[in-house]
Formats: sequence, C-alpha cells, structure tokens
Amino acid sequence: MQPSTRTVNVGIIGLGTVGGGVYRLITTHAERYRKNLGIDLRIARVCNRSEKRAHELGIDPEQFTSDWHDVVSDPSIDIVVEVIGGEHPATEIFEQSFAAGKHVVTANKALLGRHMEKLSAAARAAGVQLRCEASCGGGIPIVNTLEHDLSGNEVITVAGIVNGTTNYILSRMAEEGLGYEEVLADAQRLGYAEADPTADVDGLDAASKIAILSSIGFATRITTDDVHAQGIRAISAQDIEVARKLGYAIKMLAIGHRTDSGIDVRVHPAMIPASHPLAGVSGAMNAVYVVGDAVGETMFYGAGAGAFPTASAVVGDVLALAEPLSVGTSPLPEPEPFKRELAIRDIRDLSTRYYVRIVPGDTGDAQVHAEEVLTEHGIATEQVMKLEDGSFALVTGAVCEGAMTNALAEMARGEGAVREVANAIRIEDMAAWTEGIEAN
Ligand code: HSE
Repeated sequence: MQPSTRTVNVGIIGLGTVGGGVYRLITTHAERYRKNLGIDLRIARVCNRSEKRAHELGIDPEQFTSDWHDVVSDPSIDIVVEVIGGEHPATEIFEQSFAAGKHVVTANKALLGRHMEKLSAAARAAGVQLRCEASCGGGIPIVNTLEHDLSGNEVITVAGIVNGTTNYILSRMAEEGLGYEEVLADAQRLGYAEADPTADVDGLDAASKIAILSSIGFATRITTDDVHAQGIRAISAQDIEVARKLGYAIKMLAIGHRTDSGIDVRVHPAMIPASHPLAGVSGAMNAVYVVGDAVGETMFYGAGAGAFPTASAVVGDVLALAEPLSVGTSPLPEPEPFKRELAIRDIRDLSTRYYVRIVPGDTGDAQVHAEEVLTEHGIATEQVMKLEDGSFALVTGAVCEGAMTNALAEMARGEGAVREVANAIRIEDMAAWTEGIEAN
C-alpha cells in the first residue's frame, strides 16, 4: 500500500437520512480507512438548512454552514457529497463544484434521471468525476458494477425491484390480504412511505432509477421521460390472491431490456412466476437482475434505502476518489458515458400476456362478451378463472399493447354485460430477458 501523502477533504451538503448516515459512517470509520486503506478522510464542512440536525449529530459548529456556497467555494475541499435531492439547487451545486475542480458524489436520482448527460459532460470538461452509486438501489453495488465489472458484456437486461416503498406495500398486501389504502396508511405511519407518496407509488422514483441503470448498462442515453411508468394504486388484494392461484406474484418491476427494435424501458406492476428469484424479494428490500451475454444471469440484492445502506454506497464512491487523491494523483476525469444512440422502443410495440379481471353487469354474459372482444382483436384467451364474488379473471395469449388497449376499451363499453374491467396487469415474459446469452 502506498502511504497517504495528504488528507482528503470532504464537504457534505444535506443532513437528511442519507447525509446523516454519511456523516456518521465517515466519522465512526475514519480510523479504519486510515489503517486498512491508507486513506486519511476528513469531513471539512457540513451544510444543512437547519443547524438543529447538525447539533443532534454532534457536528462541530465550526464545520457547520447553512449556505452551500461555503462548501463549494472552500479551496480545501476535494469532494462534495450532494445529498439534498431535487433539481435545485443541486444542479448549481454540481456545476459550481465542477467549476471549482471538485469531484461530486451524489444519490440524486431525480436529477441524474433527467440530466445525467449534461452533468457528466460538465464534469468531464472540468476534469473531475461525478459518481452516483447511491442513486439506484441504495446500498446495492449496482451502478459501478454495470459501469466497470460488467462492461465486458453486451447487457441484455437490467431489471428488478428498485423501489422499497412499493415493494413493502405489495408484500404486506400479499402476506396479510390487506387493501392498498390500508397498507399505504400504515406504511406512512411507520415511516416507510412519504406523506406524499406520489413519486413512489406512481412509479416515478423507479423510472428515474431504471433510466440511470439502463443508460449505464446499455451505454446509451435514456432519460426518465423515456420510461413508460405506471404505479401500483390500482392493485387490489384480490388481484394478488388471483395471481397467487395462477402461480404468480405481483411486483412493481423496473425493466430495461435490449430488443432488436430498441431499448424497451418501463416501470409497472407485473405478474412474475412465484418461483423467480425476484418474486422472493419482499418488504422494503430491492433487487436488480442483470443479464449479460457473457456472464448470463446475475442478481444483486440488498437494502434499497436507509441511512447506513445508502451511506455505504456514497462512501464507497468517496473512497474510490480519495484513493488516488490521498497519494497525490488525480482520479481520471469522468468518462464519456453514452457512446451510442440506441432507439427507445415504443410501449405500444410491447407484446406480453395479460391478466384481466372483469366484474359482470346486469344483462348478457360478460364472459362471452369479453372473449368475443378479445377474438375480434386477434387475442387468444388462455385461461378463465371464476372468482367467489361473481367476477372473473382472464389470462390472454401474447398481445401487443396497442391491440390490448383497444380491446380493453371495447370490453369496458360492455353493453350492459360488463360492469367494470377492474384491472389489467401484464404477465411478464421473463424468458425473453435471458435471450442472447452466449453458449459456453
Ligand atoms: N423512496 C425510495 C424507495 C427511497 O422507496 O425506494 C430510496 O431511493
């Protein structure tokens, strides 16, 4: 090990759950980093809106500031840790840090999901790095794994469960037979869900994460706006129970999949075989499943949020930068991340099987009507399951989104036979996820 020639100074902006975790992890492990890694890491400055939190964490008032400019303009600071989230002032923090020659480590998925290309280019132009392991999957080491360890592969699929809140809600609904609203209220009471749960339950948080993971995995630019996102609000305990009887679990999946017609990138609840490893990921845990043409199937599992798991990812990035800095060399500048321009596939071109749950109306035969509509649209009915409350579920053959959307609209019109198309959930074709693995 080369001896450390200098102390590496870190500034932390934001003392929420993650920022507090980063502060505590670095302060409790500083001696270990010195002894084991030869890295002398020092927290030079900490910024937060309120000083009360800094006081609670035992931060020296000399280190504290409520103005982020004090951190990015401090010439002693090598690495800025931005953990406030959101677009502003995070964008300005990034830009001014880069301009001042500082590397940035962030967990900011919302910002990177939309502007990673622009921010990476700004870092590269300034000769510094932008690192974001903590932006996806909390403590799971997946961003750097895709960027470095799996870079010898053509990635075929990067998909998984990347939102702990929705996985917690769906898991409890499945385990306890409870309704969505009831579990959401409980999750909010217990601190698993935000008071405003929109970003999580509508799939927007997961959309940012799969945009980042797909961009890195496929080496092409994919933004949050490219992701077709649909959340879990419409899922009922009954859907989960019927899925179980059919041999499936319902999970909110974030999927990036390479196809001949472009990258298929989407977030939505899906039925997956109960035997698949992703079906066993329960509670607030996350898992990312990556298929590479050489490596085959891999899966990375762990805590997707929380102070220490997320701090583990942030500090890993900080130490990766600190290693060369501490021996007097500079980390390489941010590489060009998106070297190719692959098309994004239109969601209307997706073909999956579907589960459809229908509540009959007062006249006619709902099942006959539904099957006729499916047939008219060229959609096969593979299975029908009568349910105790008089409703029924259909499983279709593989169908294109466009045809399914039209069929569902026509079914819902129903002419008295159909009271309601209560839900329509995709049954994910997971065999497609592994097509293209090189034979041994
Ligand atoms: N709201 C996020 C989740 C936190 O539920 O997974 C971690 O990004």
